Amino acid sequence: MIRQKIVAGNWKMNGSKETVSSLVEGLLKMDTSNSEVVVSPSFPYLSQVSDALSASAIQVAAQNVSDQAKGAFTGEVSASMLKEFAVKYVLVGHSERRSLYAESDAFIASKVKLLLEEGLSPMLCIGETLAEREAEQTLVVCQRQVQAVIDLVGIEAFENIVIAYEPVWAIGTGLSASAEQAQEVHSAIRQFLAELSQTVAEKVQILYGGSVKASTSSALFEMPDVDGALVGGASLDAEEFIAIVKAAG
Ligand code: PGA
Repeated sequence: MIRQKIVAGNWKMNGSKETVSSLVEGLLKMDTSNSEVVVSPSFPYLSQVSDALSASAIQVAAQNVSDQAKGAFTGEVSASMLKEFAVKYVLVGHSERRSLYAESDAFIASKVKLLLEEGLSPMLCIGETLAEREAEQTLVVCQRQVQAVIDLVGIEAFENIVIAYEPVWAIGTGLSASAEQAQEVHSAIRQFLAELSQTVAEKVQILYGGSVKASTSSALFEMPDVDGALVGGASLDAEEFIAIVKAAG
């Protein structure tokens, strides 16, 4: 099955009105005909970025969402609010949120459920730490993180979920997993899903994330189970990000 590639930029907590505006201007020059391109600004810039991209094919993602639908949750942002800003995807379970903000598998699963109820597509980030990889726990960890979501929303829901495999040791370190290492894990995740539904497993897009650069992306995209990339640092540079999008096809 041919799965469309997705190249998503996670801008994290970076930028200002001015730099966001020039980054978007740079991105508008790209050819988006071969893959789905997504950018994920911080909350205050969602409106600005959505408006600036409204006539383009570039989609907008949010970096986080509340696990609650509405009400007295100071500082939180709900899925229905995100929808008003033409957001299509929402990152959930990013390792920075799992480790720095103690988000558990069950908590992340509840965010996925709310997003799906609102018709938004979760980008579910999973991945092992260096210690877990060294202890040969990579697949155990990834499966546990996926299983928590399956337990709450069921396997069929994965038709509307994108998975991003992001080994924690590769994020922001310059140490990308090799294309072969990524392929091995992506293929194992797909097989894990296939035990429950072959159809879902074939459809689900699995992105790789962790120090993706233009120079390493072609090899990654050649792998049969790598359906795109979630790009952090390199997505803040329009030229570099466009080069990654080009490499995707
Ligand atoms: P990086 O970040 O590309 O800067 O390693 C990836 C991510 O955290 O999504």
